[in-house]
Amino acid sequence: MLFGKTILITGVASGIGARTAELAGQLGADVIGVDVREPAAPVGGFVKADISSRAGVDDLVASLPQRIDALCNVAGLSGNTGAVSTLAVNFYGLRALSEGLAPKLREGGAIVNVASIAGYGWRANLNRAASMVGIEGFPDVARVVADHQVKNEEGYPVSKELLLLWTQRAARQELFRSRGIRVNAVSPGPVETPILKQFRNVLGDARVDSDIARVGRAGTLGDIAPVVLFLCSDGARWVNGANVPVDGGLEASINAEVLGF
Ligand SMILES: NC(=O)c1ccc[n+]([C@@H]2O[C@H](COP(=O)([O-])OP(=O)(O)OC[C@H]3O[C@@H](n4cnc5c(N)ncnc54)[C@H](O)[C@@H]3O)[C@@H](O)[C@H]2O)c1
Repeated sequence: MLFGKTILITGVASGIGARTAELAGQLGADVIGVDVREPAAPVGGFVKADISSRAGVDDLVASLPQRIDALCNVAGLSGNTGAVSTLAVNFYGLRALSEGLAPKLREGGAIVNVASIAGYGWRANLNRAASMVGIEGFPDVARVVADHQVKNEEGYPVSKELLLLWTQRAARQELFRSRGIRVNAVSPGPVETPILKQFRNVLGDARVDSDIARVGRAGTLGDIAPVVLFLCSDGARWVNGANVPVDGGLEASINAEVLGF
């Protein structure tokens, strides 16, 4: 499915990014992994980089080859380090990497953003999300957080709300659209990874347990990686600006409750 494609995957030292890199290799892709930490068992090439700053993103982009077929934005923080660092990695760094990499992404290439069910509130909070997404480039994130009065405990869900909104904008953004680069999102529910313990601290056990109870179990790495890679493949060539929930039906169950059907 991915034979001969070069796929850049962030967050490869752990969890969903590690499994996505492993599966991409098995499906025939050349993988370039990125993480701020060294992976225990790297798959393909590896570039150590920190996407939380403009300089980190610029250095990373400069070090990459000229032709990449797809970018999987998987790296993320749980929110336990506060709103500023979380928004810097989960949204502004991710977006700066996507935009910086665009000239190296081949025509007809793909970007897949790993968002979350935690970003479900993007419609309810549309004004704030649109304002924060509307700030171009890599801003002073501390200032953005202060100006929009984002509390530390809101950092994670807000980062994913922005990501879901931007995914839909990016699908129509000239930078990508002019070269047929598709931009989509995958939204997992709770997944058994090291970050899940941190989510329990940030969101509370009750919220995480209720999400798991609604669908019978937490997700596994093997539930998420194939969907991310399908969106990278040419089989998804007419899928653009979409958010695919990969959560065992969690979003459908929340929709039923919120919309009353
Ligand atoms: N695990 C879940 O329950 C769950 C649910 C929904 C969405 N997600 C999302 O899935 C993605 C992957 O999460 P995971 O569960 O695999 O977590 P994880 O903690 O296992 O992996 C995240 C990886 O991102 C890397 N990273 C963090 N900051 C970075 C930076 N500044 N620069 C480069 N790399 C950095 C970490 O080193 C780590 O290897 C995240 O975006 C997360 O928000 C996870």
